[in-house]
Amino acid sequence: MKKYLITGGRGYIGSVLTRRLRQAGAEVVVVDNGLVGGPELELPGVTYIDGDVLDTGSWGKALDGVDAVVHLAAIVGDPACGVDTDTAWDVNYLGTIRVAEACRRAGIRSLVFASTCSNYGFTADAEVGVLSPMSPQSVYAESKVLSEHYLLSLPRDELSPRLLRFATIHGLSPRMRFDLAVNIMTANAVEHGRVTVHGGTQWRPFLHVEDAAAAVHLVLRDDRRAAPSIYNCGFGEENYRMDSIGKLIAEEIDGVRMEILEEHTDPRNYRVNFDPIRRELGFTPSRRVVDTAREIRDAMREGKYPDFASARYSNYLTAVAQRVDPVSA
Ligand SMILES: NC(=O)c1ccc[n+]([C@@H]2O[C@H](COP(=O)([O-])OP(=O)(O)OC[C@H]3O[C@@H](n4cnc5c(N)ncnc54)[C@H](O)[C@@H]3O)[C@@H](O)[C@H]2O)c1
Repeated sequence: MKKYLITGGRGYIGSVLTRRLRQAGAEVVVVDNGLVGGPELELPGVTYIDGDVLDTGSWGKALDGVDAVVHLAAIVGDPACGVDTDTAWDVNYLGTIRVAEACRRAGIRSLVFASTCSNYGFTADAEVGVLSPMSPQSVYAESKVLSEHYLLSLPRDELSPRLLRFATIHGLSPRMRFDLAVNIMTANAVEHGRVTVHGGTQWRPFLHVEDAAAAVHLVLRDDRRAAPSIYNCGFGEENYRMDSIGKLIAEEIDGVRMEILEEHTDPRNYRVNFDPIRRELGFTPSRRVVDTAREIRDAMREGKYPDFASARYSNYLTAVAQRVDPVSA
């Protein structure tokens, strides 16, 4: 039986991945400091450690006998990282170094790292591949780019990092996030009868959270020694302009009107090539954006998530609530 340790395993992607690996019969240990998800997300048969990635000394023993580590823990998203950039750098960059060092000490070579297509930043309409230049537009993306550089700089005979640059994720998860484009646009459409798109012409790739977990699982099972280190993780046909996303959601919910606001503060615009992960790992997503629009529409009609706008579903609002005011501290 394989044994995996997942940092950030109580999070949006982590809780789906933990469930998937358990269902596949693996032994799973989760290390998470509970920044966003509490014990209500715990699954039977999984070992949960309340631990911080910056403090690997306190939980390093849990790495004994582990076959691979999946490093998901982070301050996630441009807005959340912008609230306290020092903490974001510490958790995202230094935390990655500490986790990698702990793996090396424990003799674990296999580390899957959750990176992001946000690293490409602003590429206009050109399609980008893993070797394209990166243009991070935020502390969040910068911390991921530098983490990648660090991981790739380590001797390959000691650590074999596998970097997955995820598209923007959507879909239902035990730890739900309503600060992600498709999720929040759908929730607002159901609740307010309106889909609001900011800008509209910018490109963005999307991937369902179940498929993100499936991709990690595929990478964990890929034991080619010379396997590539970096994959863009998504699906070519799921690159959309944001106004198409708005239309697609509006079509799934009766009586919804779409409005396009010219003003937008997010400079990101990237269209990504995902051929290598399909060609080499046979990765084909099982769900598309339209499926999430239906999933969230139905969940909300059943009365789930009446509080979808509350802080617990938003990494930005969570970060604001946790910020220590330097004056009062
Ligand atoms: N969701 C997306 O659209 C997306 C896209 C690209 C990449 N990613 C990456 O995937 C990973 C998971 O993202 P997510 O959407 O599940 O986010 P999330 O915020 O739901 O999960 C992050 C988890 O990390 C934990 N955590 C935060 N700081 C920690 C610390 N110091 N020590 C231990 N645990 C800590 C949180 O409690 C949470 O459970 C992240 O690395 C993120 O950058 C996500």
